[in-house]
Amino acid sequence: MDNRRLFLFKGLMWILAGLAAAVAIVRFSLGLGVSTALSDTTPWGLWIGFDVMGGVALAAGGFVMAAVVHIFHRERYHAAARPAILTAFLGYGAVAVGLLFDLGLPWNIWHATIYWNIHSALFEVAWCVMLYLTVLALEVTPTILERTPFQRTYRFFVKLALPIMILGIMLSTLHQSSLGTMLLIMPFRVHPLWYSHLLPELFFVSAICLGIVMVMVESTVTSWLYKREPEMEMLAGLARLASIALACYFVMKMGDLLRQGKLAMVFDGSWLANLFIAEMLLSTVIPMVLLALPAVRRSFTGMWLLACCSVLGFVLDRINASGLSQVWATRRFYFPAWTEFAISLGIVAACVLVFFFIQERFPVDPHGLEEVEAERKAREAALPAFAPFAQVWLGEGWRKAAKVYSFLFVLALAFGLTVAPKAQPAVNTPAVRAVGASILQIGPGPRYVYFDHKKHQDEAGGPKSCALCHHLHQKGDVGTPCVVCHGNMFLPTSIFNHETHVADLHGNASCAQCHGKGEPIRVTPTKKCSQCHDKDMMAANPVVKTFDSKWAPSYKDAMHKMCIPCHVEKAKDAALKLPNLGRCGACHNSGTQSEKAYRAEFPVQTAAPGRP
Ligand code: HEC
Ligand code: HEC
Ligand code: HEC
Ligand code: HEC
Ligand code: HEC
Ligand code: HEC
Repeated sequence: MDNRRLFLFKGLMWILAGLAAAVAIVRFSLGLGVSTALSDTTPWGLWIGFDVMGGVALAAGGFVMAAVVHIFHRERYHAAARPAILTAFLGYGAVAVGLLFDLGLPWNIWHATIYWNIHSALFEVAWCVMLYLTVLALEVTPTILERTPFQRTYRFFVKLALPIMILGIMLSTLHQSSLGTMLLIMPFRVHPLWYSHLLPELFFVSAICLGIVMVMVESTVTSWLYKREPEMEMLAGLARLASIALACYFVMKMGDLLRQGKLAMVFDGSWLANLFIAEMLLSTVIPMVLLALPAVRRSFTGMWLLACCSVLGFVLDRINASGLSQVWATRRFYFPAWTEFAISLGIVAACVLVFFFIQERFPVDPHGLEEVEAERKAREAALPAFAPFAQVWLGEGWRKAAKVYSFLFVLALAFGLTVAPKAQPAVNTPAVRAVGASILQIGPGPRYVYFDHKKHQDEAGGPKSCALCHHLHQKGDVGTPCVVCHGNMFLPTSIFNHETHVADLHGNASCAQCHGKGEPIRVTPTKKCSQCHDKDMMAANPVVKTFDSKWAPSYKDAMHKMCIPCHVEKAKDAALKLPNLGRCGACHNSGTQSEKAYRAEFPVQTAAPGRP
């Protein structure tokens, strides 16, 4: 391999891909809990912010160039069209892969195709990704077929090209904006500086800007890597386009803030405001101003740097909008685990490698292809494949490189597997006993639900209310804390102790009482628990009418099945004026003021007493 730059760069990509492969194994075998820093409060992290939101935006080059070249017939950009469309295809592929990593149940990803929820913003997003990915595959096909013997199929696809391009541009428009739509439904989460009714439009316009600068980055980087003459005229044209598009975006964004009366918020000095300023400077202001200068447009380095700066700024914008801008509402700071970075970088690396692979074999950029071909020919001419004197097979250049690459990949994979977290997910979480007279804290850790026992008791009819919630007691008790039986947050717990039963029911004489007389002993005894414990343990409860299983459901299930139906019912009660009582937020409001008050009063948590 003569081109050292390219060789090192590809080697790095293979290392990243190997590391990501290791993390992927951990993620799919042990789950999200082990492989990410995500939580219920911050369910969207780097993978959504960067891979999905960023990936889609980075792929915008495809539809922008398709429109510029094939609709507006700006032929001088022709050379950029195919690489841009290929990038878009790979970018969307990366989005789909990124989603697979992020979804809790990735094998259900096809559900959106059959179980339609036409009121969901995600429904639109899902369909646009699927359709556009298909369209992009069709747009890339002619490139693959052009120099193959399948000329008839090739010509068929070429004929199909224009309608497909138009379809692609339409879908892109829908999709780029629908990512903004998705944020529209969380006005209480997204910081006001990012939240706007114009989010879909802003996302669309910024995608156009990003598309143009992304094409610039791609073109400059490939010409540097392949040591090729940069196409300065095309780049300068793109730079001009970019500065115009960026100016439009800037006016729109600032006008929108002005319209909403939020302009002062930009300068209030909070770190989110500063983040906003940084994002606007990087993505828009600096590139817009400098790219408008003819002197800058004559400099390769200048254009390269500014395009990168703008790309960084826009990716930051997507990460801000879908992640960082929500920290103020959740008050939980999330920093991605290294494994999340590994996956994100690995997906990008894999895309880059596929890009190179296709670029070097198919006429994506005919220049490049011819150069690679010439280089290969020269190498073949210089080296005999088989050295007859030494009796050694010297191999082809690519084979040597491939050996190095696969070695690096395996090395990174092995390294990743050794350092990746291997702990089991924290499913086995004991529930914590509620303590205190009036306020009960249920559940461990920073997430908890306040439950005002006294208020509920009074609300539900005072002394007679108990059976509404307390369905089982330990013998001789009234109101055993639920946690004594529902002892695990996520897993069912057995409340049956075989030994004490045998002892209490007089040893060997007891067996027949439960297992049946003269019958073989089975794991499922003939007698139901309630046949002995109807009076002494059970309260008349509408939720659990019988008691025939020793398995107490998980604490979470017990609470939800007990608390939510009543809340949903009471939410309809107009007299109460609590329409949101049935929603998650009525109980799950972590990070509230009362946490401090609660801690001051009850500093120590008492762990659940273990069950037999
Ligand atoms: C009526 C009150 C109530 C409502 C409404 C409610 N929950 Fe819960 N939830 C609880 C209680 C109580 C627990 C268990 C104790 C704890 O975690 O503090 C719990 C636990 C959980 C847990 C497991 C513990 C954890 O923090 O990880 C999850 C997840 C959860 N709820 C999700 C939801 C979701 C999603 C909704 C809305 C569909 C919801 N809950 C609605 C009361 C409620
Ligand atoms: C709305 C449902 C509800 C009603 C009504 C209710 N309780 Fe409770 N009670 C609970 C929950 C939930 C807990 C805490 C569960 C835990 O510890 O995990 C609890 C806990 C208790 C505890 C144990 C407190 C501790 O810290 O050890 C006692 C005792 C109790 N209840 C008695 C009563 C009595 C007596 C009544 C009737 C006057 C009653 N409860 C009515 C839901 C209810
Ligand atoms: C003495 C042990 C014990 C105590 C205390 C207890 N439970 Fe249970 N609970 C059980 C068992 C066992 C079951 C399963 C019964 C069955 O399915 O036959 C159950 C079932 C339930 C269910 C029905 C779940 C379903 O899948 O339908 C709910 C809801 C529930 N418990 C809530 C509570 C709440 C709330 C408390 C406290 C106020 C509580 N339990 C206290 C043992 C207990
Ligand atoms: C109070 C009712 C009761 C009595 C009395 C009782 N068993 Fe069981 N037995 C059960 C239940 C319930 C199971 C189901 C498994 C479990 O929950 O441990 C079981 C399971 C078993 C098993 C299956 C293996 C296992 O441990 O899972 C054996 C063997 C067994 N019992 C033997 C006996 C013998 C021998 C006696 C008399 C000394 C006896 N049992 C008395 C209720 C009873
Ligand atoms: C043949 C009658 C009988 C059956 C069937 C039976 N129990 Fe019991 N259980 C008893 C007796 C007797 C005691 C001890 C009473 C005492 O100590 O006052 C007891 C005690 C208990 C206790 C409290 C003591 C302890 O072990 O922690 C629990 C909980 C319990 N049983 C659960 C169950 C469950 C769950 C089942 C069904 C799988 C069941 N029992 C089936 C007779 C029975
Ligand atoms: C029998 C019906 C009923 C059950 C069961 C019930 N709740 Fe409630 N809950 C209410 C009502 C009614 C209110 C409103 C009380 C008020 O503010 O006047 C309420 C209020 C609350 C609130 C305060 C919400 C707010 O916005 O003020 C919390 C938290 C809560 N419940 C948690 C729970 C949990 C946890 C459980 C299960 C252990 C539970 N509730 C079970 C009826 C119920």
